Amino acid sequence: MKNRIAILLLLGIVLIGLNACRDNGRNNDRSPRKTEGFNEGWRFYLGEIPEASNTTFDDHGWRQLELPHDWAIEGDFSEDHPSGSGGGALPGGIGWYRKSFFLDKSYEGKKIFVDFDGVYMNSDVWINGIHLGYRPFGYISFRYDLTPHLKFDGENIISVRVDNSEQPNSRWYSGCGIYRNVWLTSVDPVYVDLWGVYVTTPEVTQENALVSVRTTVKNEMPQEADVRTETSIVEKSGKKVASASVSVILAAGSSREMEQDIPVRKPVLWTLDDPYLYEVVTRIFVNDKQTDEYVTPFGIRHFTFDAEKGFFLNGKSTKIRGVCMHHDLGCLGAAVNMRAIERQLEILREMGVNGIRTAHNPPAPELLRLCDQMGFIVMNETFDMWRKRKTTYDYSRYFNEWHEKDLTDHILRDRNHPSVFMWSIGNEVLEQWTHVDADTLDIQQANLLLNLKRDETALAGANGEEMSVNALLTKKLADIVKRLDPTRPVTTGNNETNPANHLFRSGALDLIGFNYHGYDYPKVPENFPGKPFIATETTSGLMTRGYYRMPSDSMYIWPVRWDIPFTDPSYACSSYDNCHVPWGCTHEQAWNDVKNADFISGMYIWTGFDYLGEPTPFWFPARSSYFGIVDLAGFPKDVYYMYQSEWTDKEMLHLFPHWNWQPGELVDVWAYYNQADEVELFLNGVSQGIKRKEGDKHHVFWRLAFEPGTIKAVSRKNGKEVLAREIKTAGEPAQIRLTPDRRVIKADGQDLSFITVEVLDEEGTICPNADNLIRFNLAGNGKIAGVDNGNPTSMERFKASERKAFYGKCLVVVKGEARKGRIHLTAESDGLLKDAIEIEVTK
Ligand code: GAL
Repeated sequence: MKNRIAILLLLGIVLIGLNACRDNGRNNDRSPRKTEGFNEGWRFYLGEIPEASNTTFDDHGWRQLELPHDWAIEGDFSEDHPSGSGGGALPGGIGWYRKSFFLDKSYEGKKIFVDFDGVYMNSDVWINGIHLGYRPFGYISFRYDLTPHLKFDGENIISVRVDNSEQPNSRWYSGCGIYRNVWLTSVDPVYVDLWGVYVTTPEVTQENALVSVRTTVKNEMPQEADVRTETSIVEKSGKKVASASVSVILAAGSSREMEQDIPVRKPVLWTLDDPYLYEVVTRIFVNDKQTDEYVTPFGIRHFTFDAEKGFFLNGKSTKIRGVCMHHDLGCLGAAVNMRAIERQLEILREMGVNGIRTAHNPPAPELLRLCDQMGFIVMNETFDMWRKRKTTYDYSRYFNEWHEKDLTDHILRDRNHPSVFMWSIGNEVLEQWTHVDADTLDIQQANLLLNLKRDETALAGANGEEMSVNALLTKKLADIVKRLDPTRPVTTGNNETNPANHLFRSGALDLIGFNYHGYDYPKVPENFPGKPFIATETTSGLMTRGYYRMPSDSMYIWPVRWDIPFTDPSYACSSYDNCHVPWGCTHEQAWNDVKNADFISGMYIWTGFDYLGEPTPFWFPARSSYFGIVDLAGFPKDVYYMYQSEWTDKEMLHLFPHWNWQPGELVDVWAYYNQADEVELFLNGVSQGIKRKEGDKHHVFWRLAFEPGTIKAVSRKNGKEVLAREIKTAGEPAQIRLTPDRRVIKADGQDLSFITVEVLDEEGTICPNADNLIRFNLAGNGKIAGVDNGNPTSMERFKASERKAFYGKCLVVVKGEARKGRIHLTAESDGLLKDAIEIEVTK
């Protein structure tokens, strides 16, 4: 590789820029490209109005709103909604959006596109009454060219129809509507195509990196163009560290991919602790006049998945300590909000998480941007089903027609993110099972599906062995990914661990992934020789924050059968890590299965946060999950601290449960700790004994007969106190305490403050069973964006100005306006002393 760099330097193709010049950014004044938020000034109607696609339609009665928007989260929970409790028991339906806009003369002669990051689902888009297209997949990003249909001397109307009426179509809450950002992009007619820059770092050492940049430039002028592509690598400070330039003649209406290899000396590597980002700044010139500037953040890092030694990042052995995440943001629903995602990631990082799996679909671009910036190892997943359906109206209906396009667009969109380390082409797709045979398709259908020519025999494998259609389909999907991005392994989440699984049999998967089946891990090296391995999904522990079922050493394996309604009057799962689904296991077990097996690259726990829908083990009125290590409101459950003790070096000691029980009742007291050899527990000053973690246990526990007062735990190392924690018996609820995560937020109309609301007794001890109704009053430059308390069975609305406490706590989320000022929030409840806080909204 050194040779390659030397040759390039010698040829003088590469110019190392010494002067600092930062001219990157989305809307640089010197760039003819403009990317504008297209979220404001929409009107919305919930219901079917086919005429709304016409320009003449009068929408003045419609509600005005800003995107991103999720209409389902605004609704009431009901057993009658077709989504079912699995989909969150919230409404679906058809919704229409319309926006009127004017373009001044500066847009004339430009190419103008509308870019949707995601619409759930079945969207149709019209501009000035002309149908631009239809896109069924609710998680994919897409673009339409508005140019030929726009007016510069009058009003333009864009209309979007969203159809999420046929449900169930998802095994979790999807949300409804234009729930991600929309952009208006305008460029000169010679420009970098959509997702038109692909950056890889084929060679990386401490001394040098080779950055390979492929740029697709389009000429939409009526004549040929002499096009120069200037590519610069810009470091964080804004300094240009390297650049290259290439010229070509592009025929009218044509596009061309240009490849440039650019060495960077002494690269700063992207690591989990210091996720250093560079930018590729691409400038296009036609006859020396700049026609485009396009900025692509990227990172310089190298990694391997090794069959014996697991995952290495920049040569350093790194266990992936990941969690699976669905896309909803609790009480904000599916509507994307940068700060809400960032908060989730911050909470997970404090726990020691270093990986995110985008279960089970292409994520919002903002999630990946944050993972790039914060340092997470992302398993980026495309599909939860292929052609075999999991729910009646799911994506399997569209798979045959759309899978190539959707998978292609997903990879093209996301392949520059340094945080993405693997592609998953499917989660537990039913095609994996050995009993799903090739014979469900005839040869003709199979050929159509696999896109082979009529005379090829789909069922004949390359190495003479008979390949099933499902194995060939796996290969086809993996090939699509590898053609677009050969730098990352392709995997799938499998709950059929037998090597006869059709997906495995394809031989096309680079990384073997098991969902659950920890007891099968030891067989992997023998069953899949030479293949690296990852636990794509683990655990499925069930917990309700604040709820404890004793004795803590007895197990609750719920539901007894997954296909038969299961109920327990509590509608709650114990927080002692003693409740899990039959296909899962405890958190301690799942971590132990992975912890000491070097060949396992890591794990993605089901799940980091609770999410809406899939309220296993219960059915309605349960409507959100119990799987989270953190509840839906963002409050950690106790097991969060087990991970913190194992996954971080931060000194910690976590003592639970609360200390409000019946006199004489036997209570199990647990502690998670690290950086210490032992913990001693005291009840009202009397020692209850010293405990040390034993065997593969990551907790210690005592069984005490309850008496009111104080329990106190002290952790010690070499006899010296490390930390102490105390819990007191709380008296009656007497007051409210508000604690915002941030007292100062940006005046950008999007930023949020998450305010924890606690019910305390007179002395300031949290009342662990309090469920008082708290009412909020907001004045000033903001509004309440949502309320929650983490209770998976609450039927209260998320968009409201009141919430009941759940085990002593609830949450109110406040959004600032796009102008400077202050927000004053008061929380009141009958019989309690109120509390108030101020949030500053600043430019
Ligand atoms: C897995 C599945 C997840 C979720 C989980 C619940 O099998 O991949 O999507 O349903 O079970 O335990």
